[in-house]
Amino acid sequence: MAIGQIQAAVTGARPEAGDDALPAHVAIIMDGNGRWAAQRGLPRVAGHRAGVQAVRRTIEAAVAQHVGWLTLYAFSSENWRRPETEVRDLTGLLRHFIRSELDELHREGVRIRIIGDRGRFDTDIQADLVAAERRTTANTRLNLTVALSYGARGEIAAAARAAAEAVRDGKLDPASITEESFAGYLSTFGIPDPDLILRTSGERRLSNFLLWQSAYAELVFTDVLWPDFGASEFAEALAEYARRERRFGARPG
Ligand code: FPP
Repeated sequence: MAIGQIQAAVTGARPEAGDDALPAHVAIIMDGNGRWAAQRGLPRVAGHRAGVQAVRRTIEAAVAQHVGWLTLYAFSSENWRRPETEVRDLTGLLRHFIRSELDELHREGVRIRIIGDRGRFDTDIQADLVAAERRTTANTRLNLTVALSYGARGEIAAAARAAAEAVRDGKLDPASITEESFAGYLSTFGIPDPDLILRTSGERRLSNFLLWQSAYAELVFTDVLWPDFGASEFAEALAEYARRERRFGARPG
């Protein structure tokens, strides 16, 4: 690991794409909007609004740092249990975000994918999500995956169900199921596993996020609350990643 690469990440200079010191895929658990608002005596929705600004900054940082894949945990399958007003605030922000940002994201070369149970959102949002995916499908600069109404256990159970149905229909031999072929039933099919999973706000949990895909991910936790997250915090996380030695279960060489 060259010191220069770490410095490059900290100073914002660009490490080379394809460099092992640079994670190809960064996945982020955006946490702390509520606490950020409470610290300021503001309603929770103000924290979520500020969180959307942090989403914008983070997408820009990922593009600037040549990270090819970015996944954001925007709404968990458990978030539906929050009070109705907060769910409405969050879905409203999502609706507004897609409508106001899509042109710019498309211009920037961002390809948008959605994972999760999108069928639980209002039909106009579902239509916007499909439109965003279709419109940006040929973009290659940044692959942005937004996890919405997503839960990893639900995802794995759905994959098991689909494989079982294929066996029942005589299309799949159970003996042929491997880790690789099973991954093909997950919603992340075609997306490389995350190299780095980052969580803000000091919590140290995965909270049902990418449980299968995170098997060998480096986990980085920062005390920064999500609305305060931006380019320099993103660069710091990349620098922390660059300091880690990844062995994938093997012995150090
Ligand atoms: C965690 O903060 C954050 C969320 C539940 C949602 C994240 C959503 C956004 C950043 C805005 C919407 C996103 C898009 C893509 C438009 P929390 O409310 O759990 O904070 P707390 O733990 O401090 O209460």
